Amino acid sequence: MRRPLVAGNWKMNGSRVVAEQLTDEISAAVLPGCDVVLCPPVPYLSIVSSRIGAAAVSLGGQDCSEHENGAYTGETAVSMLADIGCRYVIVGHSERRQNFGETDTRVAAKVAAAHSGGLVPILCLGESLAERQAQETEMVVGRQLDAILGLPEIASILPDLVIAYEPVWAIGTGESATPEQAEQVHAWIRERIASHDSGAAERIRLLYGGSVKPDNAAALFAMPDIDGGLIGGASLAADSFIAICRVAG
Ligand code: 13P
Repeated sequence: MRRPLVAGNWKMNGSRVVAEQLTDEISAAVLPGCDVVLCPPVPYLSIVSSRIGAAAVSLGGQDCSEHENGAYTGETAVSMLADIGCRYVIVGHSERRQNFGETDTRVAAKVAAAHSGGLVPILCLGESLAERQAQETEMVVGRQLDAILGLPEIASILPDLVIAYEPVWAIGTGESATPEQAEQVHAWIRERIASHDSGAAERIRLLYGGSVKPDNAAALFAMPDIDGGLIGGASLAADSFIAICRVAG
């Protein structure tokens, strides 16, 4: 039985006051049935970290460098995220792939860096609308996944890895994938992982992301291979994020 996980990706939104309020309200909610992760922008990580305290809410970064340290202006090292209290880090979000030119190879290096620095990577995979229309979903998601499965240290990474399937056409559009569309890709991802390591495939949590809201979460999370969600817009309002967490577990 996989424990559900719901992560809120605030993206580049909010302010100090918003970060404080969201953290306080979410930390105060009793959410025993799922793991909850907040991923605020870098400047607010320490504020959120100090306010979640002992609550059953974890902290995550939205990205990390693949390098340990050094002359990489503007980047954030895995060790720094861990230092400030992060347990998770989102890697390979489609916005980073699309807008910042992150390649599969670079995403794989980040997954390896996150793992070796003690963080749980939340690896994002997903196809664009054009790719879905061209029936290339499995090819694209398979290519993105294979870059990770090809890492020399994959055997030690797989058991802890979290994967988020986020079809690009569903992100921020209000048009979620249907539960059946999402389940089809999730089952396919799990099968592909099973061909590497069947035990890890059973344990790995596969999150769905893309316009998840309180009113569509139940149908999505009811699918056998959907183990929670990576939430964008709806994670910026405490009541909707808490409602989604309650649906998950
Ligand atoms: P939305 O929930 O706003 O569609 O964003 C999804 C996402 O990109 C989470 O990482």
